[in-house]
Amino acid sequence: MPPRKIIIDTDPGQDDAVAILLALASPEDIEVLGITAVAGNVPLELTQKNARVVCELAGKTDVPVFAGCDRPMGRQLVTAEHVHGKTGLDGPSLPNPVMPLQDQHAVDFIIDTLRREDSGTVTLCVLGPLTNIATAFEKAPDVIERVQQIILMGGAYFEVGNITPTAEFNIYVDPEAAEITFKSGVDIVVLPLDVTHKALVTQPRNDAFRDLDTPSGIAVAQMTDFFERFDKEKYGSSGAPLHDPCVTAYLIAPELFSGRHINVEIETQSDLTRGMTVADWWGVTDRPANATFIGDLDADGFFALLVERIGRL
Ligand code: RIB
Ligand code: CA
Repeated sequence: MPPRKIIIDTDPGQDDAVAILLALASPEDIEVLGITAVAGNVPLELTQKNARVVCELAGKTDVPVFAGCDRPMGRQLVTAEHVHGKTGLDGPSLPNPVMPLQDQHAVDFIIDTLRREDSGTVTLCVLGPLTNIATAFEKAPDVIERVQQIILMGGAYFEVGNITPTAEFNIYVDPEAAEITFKSGVDIVVLPLDVTHKALVTQPRNDAFRDLDTPSGIAVAQMTDFFERFDKEKYGSSGAPLHDPCVTAYLIAPELFSGRHINVEIETQSDLTRGMTVADWWGVTDRPANATFIGDLDADGFFALLVERIGRL
């Protein structure tokens, strides 16, 4: 089977960084056509820089990195420095990037790539707010049917919210973009908090990254050491939840995950529940299924894959 062609749309973010490292370490499974940065965890000028920092950490400076939208489609930007630190990549001290940022806007790169590659052969792996994706769909509706699949980290049902009582951060930041995406008709796989909160970097798992004794392994251990504070304090978790690596791991080893094909709608009207993913997990409506909503994973298998692959870098 040839490697899956993907575009990684991202707002690094320590967990985004681990997801990108996993993809770049897996050429037999994944061909990264480009990385598109979006405003989210931190402002765009940092997410586009951090994406390049991660490519250089992986030694993959041939992967083109593009800057996309610097704010949501119809709202003020909300960022998450309280989780990721001022730089968005707090934890390790990594050098400023030397590799260039591409001149082309990320949205135009997404559109051009979907028009150039054979229809149905490009997967969008989305690790942040859906602003770039929805903007591309609005600007060039012809590309929607050319998307092979969207695999995204976002939303929640049983876990409800992490940025508000009812909403997960990526969806909360740009609910209008999420609504456009979930109504697009594209084959969507959702990795919500319900599954990512089961992917916790416990101390033995953090030690396994550090024991790789490679720049990438040590950086991942330092990133997750920093990143776990928020969730430990809020949820009393036994480590950082590796949200975004669930996206690239799903692409490589879907058998590690389980879920249901259900209807998911996005709340955009209410201030109280803005960004909530209203997931019909129990099938109580006749709303048509529009997403595969993942609820569980083999956590040990997930971390074994992560350590093996990141150990290659
Ligand atoms: O809610 C978690 C998600 O929001 C992750 O993608 C994290 O990186 C932030 O973007
Ligand atoms: Ca992210």
